[in-house]
Amino acid sequence: MGATTRAVRGLEVMYDERGGGPSAVVLLHGFPFNHTLWREQAEALSDRHRVITPDLRGHGGTGLGEGVASSMEEMAEDVAALLGELHVSERVRLGGLSMGGYVTLAFYRLVPQRVRALVLADTRPQSDTEEARRAREETARRALREGMQTVADAMLPKLLVPSTREERPEVFERVREMILATRPEGAAAALRGMAARRDQTDLLREIDVPTLIVVGSEDALTPPKDSETMHRAIRGSRLVVIEGAGHVSNLERPAEFNRALEDFLKGIES
Ligand code: MLT
Repeated sequence: MGATTRAVRGLEVMYDERGGGPSAVVLLHGFPFNHTLWREQAEALSDRHRVITPDLRGHGGTGLGEGVASSMEEMAEDVAALLGELHVSERVRLGGLSMGGYVTLAFYRLVPQRVRALVLADTRPQSDTEEARRAREETARRALREGMQTVADAMLPKLLVPSTREERPEVFERVREMILATRPEGAAAALRGMAARRDQTDLLREIDVPTLIVVGSEDALTPPKDSETMHRAIRGSRLVVIEGAGHVSNLERPAEFNRALEDFLKGIES
């Protein structure tokens, strides 16, 4: 099945669904991307799992709703409601990259009983500093005033390692296109939601499901030290550092990322 939409909590939510079987894998994209971020992972996992990749509110084909800020909790509730609509009654293997990781942690805090395993990719548990909050508000205003090109120009050098741009220009283009396809209102609301997000550090010690942490060794936005902190705090977690990848490690090094994901999921019984 390709991408389609469902009415969920007053929003049209777009999602892609592939594969089948008793175990559902749900992957949440980062900011300001959409479900196509996960194309390679959805393809790789769909022969063993039912893989669901939604567009988070204000991104891709999903509506924004009323608010000027999209909280991580609201996004998590959208995902939980979508799973209800799709009759996913079993516990899910839930993963997210960057902002998708913030939403993944918010989901776990909200409904831990719905989670069988976690994947935290290029993300972090802590909330923003005052300086980061101010910078986000600046970016939100600039996006609304000038459009997404300015956001793309500012973000791209930090998202990917230079060699990705030089050696795999199609990956650079794909990331650029995802950013440009995001509506400025959706991006601004997500920026404000991220700025207001709670610190999830205290949650880490309560996580009692198998957890995979993945990070690019060159991730400039959520560097490996954040992943090491999560690894130390989450009992029994596995940490995989993907050498040479930046922040969008699943796109920059899909083979290594998929290997880590598939190895991890193989070890989890239903
Ligand atoms: C993302 O990739 O989702 C964002 O860079 C996360 C952030 O800005 O904190």
